Amino acid sequence: MTAKVRKAVFPAAGLGTRFLPATKAQPKEMLPLVDKPLIQYAVEESIQSGVQNIIIVTGRGKSAIEDHFDVSFELENLLEQKKKKDLLQQVRGVSDMIDVSYVRQKEALGLGHAVMRARELVGPEPFAVVLSDDVIESEIPCLRQLIDIYEFFGASVVALMEVPKDQISAYGVVDAEPVDHNGAKNRLYRIRNMVEKPKAADAPSNLAIIGRYILVPEIFDSISKIEPGAGGEIQLTDALKHLLRNRPIYGYKFEGKRFDAGDKLGFLKATVEFALRRPDLGGLFRDYLKTLTL
Ligand code: G1P
Repeated sequence: MTAKVRKAVFPAAGLGTRFLPATKAQPKEMLPLVDKPLIQYAVEESIQSGVQNIIIVTGRGKSAIEDHFDVSFELENLLEQKKKKDLLQQVRGVSDMIDVSYVRQKEALGLGHAVMRARELVGPEPFAVVLSDDVIESEIPCLRQLIDIYEFFGASVVALMEVPKDQISAYGVVDAEPVDHNGAKNRLYRIRNMVEKPKAADAPSNLAIIGRYILVPEIFDSISKIEPGAGGEIQLTDALKHLLRNRPIYGYKFEGKRFDAGDKLGFLKATVEFALRRPDLGGLFRDYLKTLTL
């Protein structure tokens, strides 16, 4: 029997350079899409996928993340006094949602390095890695889709998406062969090789890795064996490539829409779409947008 995926690691120690100056004194994970910080969307996706044990890898200047998932007595008292029941419920909901553990990544030395920091807390079991600047809207949560594949094959799985050639260099890219699964021919892939941020001309395909992974614990040994790669960082993609020598890895073209909310344009697109879908704001926002001369 394959072990259950119980834990999810959220790397959140990056410097957020793509979103300066907003991220100079504020973690990018706390940027709000409408009224919820990015990391909360990712945590909710994780909970909806059945993974309740959250490990956040934080760094300097990231205390707002810890405060966000903690109880805020002052705020709760104030809302109680003012009889703002709905708001009180929302604020309590965030801290009641889960128990979070934190581990520090003292230097931003790469995604692989960040994941390695969670080794002790994860232990010898499979786990998820969730990058909260990839915001994914879908009927079945993206992480759940990957866990279903993991449970079927008992092997690591990464989320995949087709990306236009002129953008492919921003991603980890796979060389993979399609595998029939559940009647679908073009969703599941068995990965043959992968490369982090290749030049467009060298990319082995148009299939990019998106920030959702289910990993077997052997990945930690692989991370410990690799050298710094693209950008001089310890890359998770390089560790996965190392793992491929001994273990199969699958890629799954998930169903859903992904926004790159760590990028200014991607963030704007996500904000507009999420606002339009909100029952309390969507109508008014749509009316407002229609008044703009575009
Ligand atoms: C990271 C990974 C990359 C992946 C991407 C998805 O890169 O290293 O393989 O394709 O996330 O968002 P980053 O965006 O942190 O540079």
